[in-house]
Order: sequence, then C-alpha cells, then structure tokens
Amino acid sequence: MTTKLDRLLAAFHTVLAGIDHALVSDFVSRIRWNMDARPLGARPLACLRHLDRAAEIAPSFAKPLATFLAEERGRFRWGQTYAEADLGKPFVDNYGWLEVFGARGHFINDTFAGGILILGPNLLYPDHHHIAEEIYVPLTGGTCWRKEDKDFAIRQAGEVIYHASNVSHAMQTGSDPLLALYLWHGGPLDQKSSVTGTISSGKA
Ligand SMILES: [Fe+2]
Repeated sequence: MTTKLDRLLAAFHTVLAGIDHALVSDFVSRIRWNMDARPLGARPLACLRHLDRAAEIAPSFAKPLATFLAEERGRFRWGQTYAEADLGKPFVDNYGWLEVFGARGHFINDTFAGGILILGPNLLYPDHHHIAEEIYVPLTGGTCWRKEDKDFAIRQAGEVIYHASNVSHAMQTGSDPLLALYLWHGGPLDQKSSVTGTISSGKA
C-alpha cells in the first residue's frame, strides 16, 4: 500500500531527479531512497496558509509536489528552528519547514536531510550559516537570495543554489511566498543555524 508519506518522498525524489545539475545528481545518487519511516504526529503551522499561493505559482516541474503539499498539509510534521525570541512573531508566523528525511524527519536518514521550506511574502530570513553543506531548489520564483556579503539576486524556480559549509546566506521574499526544496549533508543534520544578520538589516 502506498501511503501519503511514500507519496511525499516519491514527489520529492521526482523533482530532484528532474534537475539537470551535477551537484544535485551527485546528492541524489548518494542518498539511499528506500528509507524507513519514522512515526511522527502531524504538526501544522501558521505558514501553511501560503501553500495555496505557492501551488498556484509553481511551474510544471514543481506543481505536483506543491499541490500535494497544499492538499495534504495537515498530515505532516512541520517544524521551526526559531522562536519568537529569536526572530520575532512576524517571522515565526510566516516560516516553517517539513523534514522529509533526516535525523528527525518522516524518514530516517543519518547522513542526508531533505525537506521543504516555506517563507511568507515580504519576509527577510537574515544571514545565517551552518556546518552542513546545503543545496536549495526554489519551487517558486521571485525570492532574492544572497551568499556572504554579496548583493541579493533574484532566483527563479528550478535554479540550484549551493551553500558550502558555514557559508552565510540570506533570503528576502517579494510579493509571493517562497516554497523551496533543500538538502543537507556533511554536518549535524539537526543543527540550529547561527544567525548573524538581523531581521531589519540586509533588505534587498
Ligand atoms: Fe541554510
């Protein structure tokens, strides 16, 4: 029997398998995709309201995954690394992630984490870094991204954004939400990122 979790993992894998980029292909080839499920209860978050718009604007390669997430949003364990004390209530009300697999996700994986990030419109995720290297594939366009002290640059859905270990990065959404797929490898998979920027700095 195919469960909703199996469908989540399959849709996630399908998006990645369709990305023509050496870094992504390398990660995909090294991930053991027949992972065991980890029993987790559902946990909805306020940011899930942005999934409808994200599914609407997602291009064809991302539409099945975005639509599935919008339709089944209440079934999964959504998480947050930051609390109001870290980045304020407007951030916390518009941010969240779903770990599909990893050290704490719906599927057990000790070497790779993979998941989905949501950021609501007009939101700054300030400069932050972590030990794990990271690949992002935005599933919606229109968000500005930056690395280190470089300028923000707008990135389209389907682009591949790579952050080496401990490289600082930030995102600034525009009028639409960001839905993005991420992969982590090579560091503690449940690390809380170190935030060096502030919520009012670094605007695009
Ligand atoms: Fe990151």
